[in-house]
Amino acid sequence: MLILGIDTSCDDTSAAIVEDGCRPLSSVVNSQVKLHHPYGGVVPELASREHLKNIVPVVEESLSRASVSFRDLDGIAVTVGPGLVGALLVGLYYAKGLALAHRLPLVGINHLEGHILSIFLEKDFPSFPFIAITISGGHTSIYLVEGYGRYTQMGQTLDDAAGESFDKVAKILGLGYPGGVAIEREAGEGKKDRIKFPRAMLGPESLDFSFSGVKTSVALYVKDWKEGNKDTGSVTLADIAASFQEAVVDVLVRKCLKAVQETGVRHIVVAGGVACNGRLRERFSSEAVQNNLQLFYPSARYCTDNGAMIAVAGYHRILNNERMDLSQDVRSKFPIQDLRPLSRGPAQEERQNRDGMP
Ligand code: KG4
Ligand code: ZN
Repeated sequence: MLILGIDTSCDDTSAAIVEDGCRPLSSVVNSQVKLHHPYGGVVPELASREHLKNIVPVVEESLSRASVSFRDLDGIAVTVGPGLVGALLVGLYYAKGLALAHRLPLVGINHLEGHILSIFLEKDFPSFPFIAITISGGHTSIYLVEGYGRYTQMGQTLDDAAGESFDKVAKILGLGYPGGVAIEREAGEGKKDRIKFPRAMLGPESLDFSFSGVKTSVALYVKDWKEGNKDTGSVTLADIAASFQEAVVDVLVRKCLKAVQETGVRHIVVAGGVACNGRLRERFSSEAVQNNLQLFYPSARYCTDNGAMIAVAGYHRILNNERMDLSQDVRSKFPIQDLRPLSRGPAQEERQNRDGMP
């Protein structure tokens, strides 16, 4: 079964063809990083205009790289939220037009479900249940995943997303946009224990996150540092980057371990753009060894936004007989709790038969 997946939720125009919800035949991503770079963040109006320019060629390229035509497709999956309204509208209305023109089933997908299921594009994927931590520029959440469509949110950020804090701190440090990669590179030369930036744990039971405090703390520190105040003399820019990165990684890893303790689930999927971070992976790996956990990372191209993960989610929802009502609109906010659970339908059984997965 061939599904075209389309995602235009933020600043990447992406489309992919995925076979049977697990084999990517193509994945095309047109990144707008250069366009937004001078502004130090995504400018929604510019993003929408750029999606409009790129959506047709990106979808066509995804078909040609997979050597398929619209006639070969079995359905279209498109992100309806959460994300930037103007950006989402471009993908959704183009997908609606394609579905009507080519008489194809269409499903609207929650972007967060896409990130959770992105691991099924890899050869190495976990059995259910697993813990998924999705860490990106727009979201930071921990889920208990008990099956396709069966997600319980255990924690989420109360303010900035982890990636957003990397981007904002990179701006404060003058490292440019997007901030995650720039901070990781700078941090490589620095001492991670040089400055003790705050870790917001929000109480012993909480699995929620808050990253706005650490960002403010870095901003105040940098002000002192630039003015040569207090004992900041020998501190380098790299030390600040490394200490900030450590504070964020520390909270992410500790909260995830708490979710493991609470559920007894030992398989962890780490997804979203920030999952590319080397220090995060190092910390997770050492905890995995100590606590007998099994870690799963989507490859970098499926960690960041992509249409392939949307096609995976679409495959299961189309097999579950879901269809989008063409009057449905985008949803800038779309909590995962609002998703309809998938019945234990053919998609799961088929996959179980093929892979021996529970
Ligand atoms: O998943 P993604 O591509 O888009 C969203 O849905 O937001 O994630 C982008 C975010 C950005 O905030 C970027 O700074 C962050 O992921 N990021 C990283 C790294 N690579 C990307 N953060 C930390 N370390 C990295 N190596
Ligand atoms: Zn995303």
